Amino acid sequence: MESHIEKQNSDVLQKSFNEMISTLPKEKCWGFPKDLHQYQGVWFTQRFLQGALSAQQQFQAQPTDIILCSSPRTGTAWLKSLTFATITRTLYNDSTTPLLCKMPHDVVPFMEFDHAQFSTNRHLGIPLLATHLPYSFLPRSIIDSGCKLIYICRDPKDTFVSLYHFIAGHCKAENTQPFQLDEAFELFYEGVSLNGPYWDHVLGYWKASLEHPDKLMFLKYEELVEDTVLYLKKIAEFMGYPFSSEEQQQGVPENIVQLCSFENISGLEVNKIGKHREGHGNLGTENNIFFRKGKVGDWKNYLTTEMAQRLDQLTMQKLSGSGLSL
Ligand code: A3P
Repeated sequence: MESHIEKQNSDVLQKSFNEMISTLPKEKCWGFPKDLHQYQGVWFTQRFLQGALSAQQQFQAQPTDIILCSSPRTGTAWLKSLTFATITRTLYNDSTTPLLCKMPHDVVPFMEFDHAQFSTNRHLGIPLLATHLPYSFLPRSIIDSGCKLIYICRDPKDTFVSLYHFIAGHCKAENTQPFQLDEAFELFYEGVSLNGPYWDHVLGYWKASLEHPDKLMFLKYEELVEDTVLYLKKIAEFMGYPFSSEEQQQGVPENIVQLCSFENISGLEVNKIGKHREGHGNLGTENNIFFRKGKVGDWKNYLTTEMAQRLDQLTMQKLSGSGLSL
């Protein structure tokens, strides 16, 4: 229970945060009812920025933590399912895993949403946590603790298309009008997207992965689609939960891949009709908008050749000299 003094303190903090945010550059979030605010070069919704700043001040990482990092719509939920199923494979079997009745975002919490202020209440038995924060925004304790990070990124064209549909899904639920795709495209191109510019997000983690390859594993959604079993084995090894040769003979990695496949996960009752973050005055988000097609190259159905070429050119420019291609 919050005491009177704690309540007063939090009111003062909220007031100074509101004052600070009112001074920041602001843009529309593609029709989403919440605006984006630019803080230190990154576009955040108010809630994300507040969570980011609280996490920076208060989040205490443990050396055993494994933090799943991503820009929105690049495969976060999939990575959560795969890593959760891998780490908990001796605790649960195919019919008892929580993945059958909870959506992946409810199984692996977000640091800046769920644990910014309450990191000590964490269930440390399962060391997974996720974040959409750029690398440069991570709380100091994450870097100092030496815990492991896994980053997933995706072709910017598919990321844009996926994000566009995600925001349009939110708009529908909140009875607001999403931007036209070409308007949203221009904003994405200019870097105005959730936790964007997208390329800066990717490059921050890419550079850190080159400096600390033992601490930061860098993945691409497309590679994970191409050979999920191979990459799952690499992920398990990196996390410190490698599959034994006996497990490999029994097909344990293949079973996990099947359990977490788009077809299986998106077809579960909880992900078709459930709601995420419902309650406490929150309307919640329909779980089904998190699962759309799960395909590589769906951008071809939405972007003109000119749009795709422009985005590819920008990506080449932004990543030039980094050794990374997307
Ligand atoms: P699409 O919109 O292209 O279908 P995030 O979890 O970071 O928000 O990423 C969402 C994207 O990952 C969506 O892409 C979603 O459909 C896809 N996705 C979700 N679960 C998946 C799974 N199990 N396998 C592959 N892709 C998945």
